[in-house]
Amino acid sequence: MSDVKKLTREQAEVELERLATEIAEHDARYHGEDAPTISDAEYDALRNRNTAIEKRFPDLVRADSPSLSVGSIVQSKFEKITHVVPMLSLDNAFSDEDVVDFVARVRRFLKLEESQVLPITAEPKIDGLSLALRYEAGELVSAATRGDGAEGENVTANARTIADIPRKLEGNDVPDVVEVRGEVYLGKQDFLDLNARMEAEGKQTYVNPRNTAAGSLRQLDSRITASRPLKFFAYAWGDVSELPRNSQMQMVELFQEWGFKINPLMGLFDDVDPLLDRYRLIEEQRSHLYYDIDGVVYKVDDLALQQRLGYVSRSPRWAIAHKFPAETAITVLKDIEIQVGRTGALSPVARLEPVTVGGVVVSNATLHNEDYIAGIGSDGEPIRNGVDLRIGDTVTVYRAGDVIPKVLDVDLSKRPADAKPYVFPDKCPACGSDAVRELNEKTGKLDSTRRCTGGFICPAQAVEGLKHFVSRNAFDIDGFGEKQAEAFYNWGMVMNPADIFTLRERDARSLTRLENRDGFGKLSASKLFDAIDARREIDLHRFIFGLGIRHVGEGNGKLLARHYQTIEALLVAMDEAVNFEGAAWEELVNIDGIGETAARALVRFFADTNSRKVVDALLINVTPRPAEQVATESPVAGKTVVFTGSLEQMSRDEAKAMAERLGAKVSGSVSGKTDLVVAGPGAGSKLKKATDLGIETLDEDGWFDLVGR
Ligand code: IVH
Repeated sequence: MSDVKKLTREQAEVELERLATEIAEHDARYHGEDAPTISDAEYDALRNRNTAIEKRFPDLVRADSPSLSVGSIVQSKFEKITHVVPMLSLDNAFSDEDVVDFVARVRRFLKLEESQVLPITAEPKIDGLSLALRYEAGELVSAATRGDGAEGENVTANARTIADIPRKLEGNDVPDVVEVRGEVYLGKQDFLDLNARMEAEGKQTYVNPRNTAAGSLRQLDSRITASRPLKFFAYAWGDVSELPRNSQMQMVELFQEWGFKINPLMGLFDDVDPLLDRYRLIEEQRSHLYYDIDGVVYKVDDLALQQRLGYVSRSPRWAIAHKFPAETAITVLKDIEIQVGRTGALSPVARLEPVTVGGVVVSNATLHNEDYIAGIGSDGEPIRNGVDLRIGDTVTVYRAGDVIPKVLDVDLSKRPADAKPYVFPDKCPACGSDAVRELNEKTGKLDSTRRCTGGFICPAQAVEGLKHFVSRNAFDIDGFGEKQAEAFYNWGMVMNPADIFTLRERDARSLTRLENRDGFGKLSASKLFDAIDARREIDLHRFIFGLGIRHVGEGNGKLLARHYQTIEALLVAMDEAVNFEGAAWEELVNIDGIGETAARALVRFFADTNSRKVVDALLINVTPRPAEQVATESPVAGKTVVFTGSLEQMSRDEAKAMAERLGAKVSGSVSGKTDLVVAGPGAGSKLKKATDLGIETLDEDGWFDLVGR
């Protein structure tokens, strides 16, 4: 990633947009689906980068900036509860210096004299999910998740099943209204037991205790929640009719009197050093605790000072979370194996002498790509001081939360004398086809990933290729979806697309007829054969797109079909362009919209003997229809059009096809390059953006008037 200090204004704007989208997607996966795809550390890095860019360009802060929300989306299946006092999140500190800075910042803000002490609490940061419990006249009336911070989900019925949550508050000084906040979590052993049970029952297992806790609390059936041993620590409060104490520590102690569990490792300290001592104590205790924690939270103890300090955007100025660093361990790299992914990417995996990192036994780790093994980072700069990784090396393994472990460092002093540099294969280990690194046009650099060019013939990619071939915008065969593609492949009946078109005749001769197989009957089998027959003639662009050539999507498929008109002309051109030079190559790269990367991938695909065999076999049974001549006279020829809102007289696909027939390019998003926006009822942000940018907009009737229909 480029240095924030070097970003131009334009780059910053683009990047803030990307970060907003990306972080929102991660939030949705993390909170909405309880299935994160990146580690907390990576997520924090994204948010930190967003903040750093916003700091440099404060006027570029977006309305949907992640810095203005606390993350997480509200699920629709539960009723919503608006938080009277928003549920915020905490700023992070990653080092002792960050903590020193935090305390100094607070003291400065409060203009404290050097002699004045500033008591601060320290307590474990529990890795669960926060919950707000509202008590009226001492009775539990509602429980709400954090949601987006402003509005959460009403999970009252489920909260009532948690033993640690009192239904009625006992003891002194219970306010008329008080909202106690804290963390719902699941013990580590309880998580393992539950997952083992789920696995035995053939159910989907959870990734970690936190996601299990979240999933368990958000069950529509409270009996399921009740069967999960969820626990709760109280550590904060929201709406309260009258504060019964005036310090953080005393409030939490009062919670205990009322019947809540509070964390025994919480302490009150007068200075940074004892705070950091407590941090280290908690860190030492971490692996012995029965629940997961991911840091230590410091809070200014005096509530009047908290009040004065207030909040900055999404977090209080009076608190900070000191995160634990990712954990590491030292072990031996026993072997390097290459896995071939569904898109043909060759991924090196380290086989390690098993070692425990942060309580988990690790025996595999990702090595990213061949540059990483060679000691080159993704930006082309050396990593590990340019030291390569060799089989037999002693390495440091790193694991943060539930991310895939990584190999970080090599101890050169322990390198065996006979260790040889690792030679990355240039043939696919799954099918033997060439594995190549493509040239990235934009950067002029080689792609860091080496990919198998085998396509259909590569077993690692075959099923994916088949699924793509039959997909909606390709061959779109009725009754032949992803499930069938997998089944036919596993039964050995369809190994590549050409096999689809010989299925009927082979089935007629087969001992196990399709109609007798799982999921089929007489009628469905015969319907499927008819649906296949219906595609023996097909538009050329669908044929090209269906081949699943890298970088050749629907749009490029259409451009190629329009340009070459027939499959024969396309094949001749590809054969002539085989050395990436000459008139045919020039013609290909000069097609408006076809970049060099796609052009290379095309030529490579048709030159590959295995792929070509499949194409030739397909053409025995399938006839691609020559492309329609595109109007160049039309009023929208060469223009970029966006359709938005709901269209009433034509479907989206029809609108798209019509515009393309008339020579227009159809895009899904409005930008400076858009010439025309056709907006139906309900059009929202795209229409607004078009108006803001001064782009011509039409309704559906206006569109038909323009194109003369
Ligand atoms: S105090 C205004 N204390 O961390 C913030 N939060 O990143 C009040 N968390 O949403 C939160 N343990 O889910 C606080 N001892 C603790 C915590 C804790 C875990 C979570 C909580 C919060 C998130 C903030």
